[in-house]
Amino acid sequence: MGFEILKHIPVMVEEVMTFLGCEPGRTYVDATLGGGGHASEILKRSAPDGVVIGMEWDEDALTEARSTLMPFGERVKLFRKNFIHLPDLINASSVDGILLDLGLSSIQVEKEERGFSFRADGPLDMRMDQRMEQTAADLVNSLSSEELEETLAQYGEERWAKRIAKAIVQQRGQEPIEKTQTLRRIIHRSIPRRFHFRRIDPATRTFQALRIRVNDELENLRKILNTGWTLLKKEGRMCILSFHSLEDRIVKEAFRNLEKKGEMRVLTKKPVTPSEEEQRRNPRSRSAKLRCAERI
Ligand SMILES: C[S@@+](CC[C@H](N)C(=O)[O-])C[C@H]1O[C@@H](n2cnc3c(N)ncnc32)[C@H](O)[C@@H]1O
Repeated sequence: MGFEILKHIPVMVEEVMTFLGCEPGRTYVDATLGGGGHASEILKRSAPDGVVIGMEWDEDALTEARSTLMPFGERVKLFRKNFIHLPDLINASSVDGILLDLGLSSIQVEKEERGFSFRADGPLDMRMDQRMEQTAADLVNSLSSEELEETLAQYGEERWAKRIAKAIVQQRGQEPIEKTQTLRRIIHRSIPRRFHFRRIDPATRTFQALRIRVNDELENLRKILNTGWTLLKKEGRMCILSFHSLEDRIVKEAFRNLEKKGEMRVLTKKPVTPSEEEQRRNPRSRSAKLRCAERI
């Protein structure tokens, strides 16, 4: 697999930069560095002295970000941490902007050994932070049928959750389910053929659900929405790119509550979505929604 394929294309760069309002002398947090695509753009536009504090919990992504951001030297400070720990690292009312670009980067999806993709055969891993203990295989082989069903229904909005959960439990009675393709076959068999749609693989929702649970993604998002805004200076902005409806709903409601309390002003009454041109150029951007709010 060539390096070019692995490169992550940052989503809605112009829109994100406009909302963040990158300027020299300012300090920004990129809480989900990935390969450093958005971060390097922030650094270019806030030259010569803007600073980026970067958070990333995936070792491979952080290694890539470190090399991408090398040219910016001292203007970059990187941490291998879950972004929920941001308030332990920086002072209240001290930064001008915070960016969260949720979900996976291509660096993760396209490495089959990470187990995120049902298109390749890899171990059922799905941990974004390799230091975590519990993998997707651990969940699939240990949760009860009811717990599996609830996970798939809640985090995947999968209408066939019960059938898939039962099939998983039955199959693992013979031998543990360790590979992505084994799980994909079980899912395909569980969903009636007339509900297999060409554009969306039947395994999509189950894989999404397991990934969200392994990485505690929605809880992490709720936590940072609770505390992150306190780190912003007055008129500092928080921009969030989300990639599915569960995330977008959480962002929308949190921003609305902060607005009601008089802490933030929402700048995107409706989420901003990528242009048709961008969607053509980068299919991964298709589901992206950008919301932004400003501290009052
Ligand atoms: C969509 S990618 C970001 C891509 C980046 N904006 C770019 O342009 O290269 C999301 C990244 O956030 C990281 N991530 C997700 N949740 C995180 C968390 N709670 N703490 C730290 N990093 C997280 C993932 O590991 C992934 O690398």
